Amino acid sequence: MNSAIPVITIDGPSASGKGTVAQLVATELGFHYLDSGALYRIVALATQQQNIAWSNAQAIAECSKSLAITFINDQVFLNNKEVTSDIRTEAMGKGASQVAVHEPLRKVLIEIQHAFCKAPGLVADGRDMGTVIFPDAPLKVFLTASTEVRATRRYQQLINKKQAANYDGILQDLLERDARDQNRASAPLIMANDAVLLETDNLTISQAVNYVLDKYQRFI
Ligand code: C5P
Repeated sequence: MNSAIPVITIDGPSASGKGTVAQLVATELGFHYLDSGALYRIVALATQQQNIAWSNAQAIAECSKSLAITFINDQVFLNNKEVTSDIRTEAMGKGASQVAVHEPLRKVLIEIQHAFCKAPGLVADGRDMGTVIFPDAPLKVFLTASTEVRATRRYQQLINKKQAANYDGILQDLLERDARDQNRASAPLIMANDAVLLETDNLTISQAVNYVLDKYQRFI
């Protein structure tokens, strides 16, 4: 990896809005964008298709080595088939957080994630971008919101997409995913020591984007 290439990491819990913020910051700066959660979602989908249990660490890691994963603009391809909306379901979110506990899989995905670090720069969003994947990033943001606000945002997203949504179920799922992501042994969701905390309960998306851009201006 070339340490001269600037990297902004945006980590945080599910449905915190970090994906939206990270994408807009990347667009604004003309940087590349890594949605690392999509990688875990793709692995959840591929292993499900191959009848591999999400508890089977070795088989998941082996399977993930043979996957052809491509991102073209906003589209995601698995073995040349578009899976953009297939990986965005609640089921694949849950599956992603189950496969993501396994260290052998996380090791396989390191190289793929490092390959996104290209000039003129990268905005990387996930759970361990600042702690494990890009520990030398000059700007690390930990973006979060209260569980209730995150559940409401997720509920609204599903309603907007005309999908079935149940607030209590969404809240329960978020609490389960938070607990699994925070308590796993390998690369748990944790704020890096040198990250800045961005609480978004009372912020609009553009306020959050401007906060990150403003912080970044201080590094250049
Ligand atoms: O960000 P997203 O909700 O798409 O991520 C899905 C799941 O993938 C998370 O709940 C988490 O368990 C896992 N993940 C991870 N490390 C990352 C990104 C996502 O473990 N860097």
